[in-house]
Amino acid sequence: MAQFPIADPAPADGKLPEQALIGASVRTFHAYIHVPFCSVRCGYCDFNTYTSSELQGFNQTDFVQRLLQELDFSQRVLETSGLPQRALTSVFFGGGTPTQLPVSDLVRSLEALTEIFGLSSHAEITTEANPDSVDVRYLNALAAGGFNRVSFGMQSAVPSVLKTLERTHNLENVPLAVRYAKDAGLKTSVDLIYGAPGESLDDWKRSVEAAIGLETDHISAYALIVEPGTKLYRQIQSGQLEEPDEDLEADKYEFADEAFGSAGLNWYELSNFARTPSDASLHNLAYWTGQDWWGYGPGAHSHVGGVRWWNAKHPTAYAKPLLDGLSPAVGREVLDDQARLSERVMLELRLRSGLASEVLTGVTGDVDQKISSLIADGLIDGVAAIRGTISLTLRGRLLADGVVKRLLA
Ligand SMILES: C[S@@+](CC[C@H](N)C(=O)[O-])C[C@H]1O[C@@H](n2cnc3c(N)ncnc32)[C@H](O)[C@@H]1O
Ligand code: SF4
Repeated sequence: MAQFPIADPAPADGKLPEQALIGASVRTFHAYIHVPFCSVRCGYCDFNTYTSSELQGFNQTDFVQRLLQELDFSQRVLETSGLPQRALTSVFFGGGTPTQLPVSDLVRSLEALTEIFGLSSHAEITTEANPDSVDVRYLNALAAGGFNRVSFGMQSAVPSVLKTLERTHNLENVPLAVRYAKDAGLKTSVDLIYGAPGESLDDWKRSVEAAIGLETDHISAYALIVEPGTKLYRQIQSGQLEEPDEDLEADKYEFADEAFGSAGLNWYELSNFARTPSDASLHNLAYWTGQDWWGYGPGAHSHVGGVRWWNAKHPTAYAKPLLDGLSPAVGREVLDDQARLSERVMLELRLRSGLASEVLTGVTGDVDQKISSLIADGLIDGVAAIRGTISLTLRGRLLADGVVKRLLA
């Protein structure tokens, strides 16, 4: 499982340092709720999630109570730390599989968030969902309870690829779930993964075309990350499965970009495609543009003005301090200006809107020369650069990590 950064212990009362207040009134505020339950663990996934046998006595039915306690706790911390009262611009239930909870638990949590913070006028309220874990009633209840968006884990439309990924959802449930969600008035998105061992370019084309055929408002297409500690990692290490091929992954990305674009789904972030600018995920944009968010639930990460903290990972360890009115956080780091600027470069470069080149002058030297050489290599857009924005070309998107390294060198 992914390790947390090395940092200071988080204070038990959660109080935020003064730094968190600077510029708070111009940043938007968001909530992420991590629901750490799945019926089975997919072989590739190292998210902080637990099957029933891994819960070690934690009762899933108690979860929403602890969440409500963290909500109250967050209100106290933000108030006593002097943060301005801000309505939520987005709320995102992620996991794990949030839809494994009864829909009334999700709606109740959303109501509590709304009562405490309020929602901004066009707030985006999303839940992730496994296509097998929802039906018409569930989706209608989400919409009636104030949700306006659902993001389904589709991953692939090819049975053999789903098998390699150890996905257990029924392929036929994806179009049904999407249709029911649309009928309920929810915006829809699907997640795809490319690069599974054994997935051919033709397999991927089938998945892309199937996803386009669903006519969702949004698609995310992620390159498979082989995470150490996962079953997939062990299968690759032992030679049972082959390693993903980077050149083939690049071909898959190029195909998806072209096919999504022709279908009216345009990239706005390296892995994310939206039908119109207003279909871009407000929640994800908040991460990439350094806004403030409170991450509720086991293992959730929060960020307020360059102060980051993260909760205990196991539900039992998360629940314990909350029962005493204390912070469930186990670590915290306060980023200095230099670290915040470097992070800004990394995140904003992923966006189609790009990075203002003036940001770089605070981070690194030889900015003009670096920009010229990236244009010469076809990695960033020359016209945008003249206007002061660093924006990746298609080639640049394929080599984005390298571009970041060259800019920050
Ligand atoms: C929490 S899951 C989505 C909801 C639900 N648990 C599901 O899988 O249907 C979030 C997304 O992360 C992506 N993901 C998880 N592990 C990944 C990995 N190792 N590499 C690439 N994408 C991954 C998957 O596309 C998945 O849909
Ligand atoms: S990909 Fe989704 S369903 Fe699979 S283990 Fe991870 S969080 Fe659970």
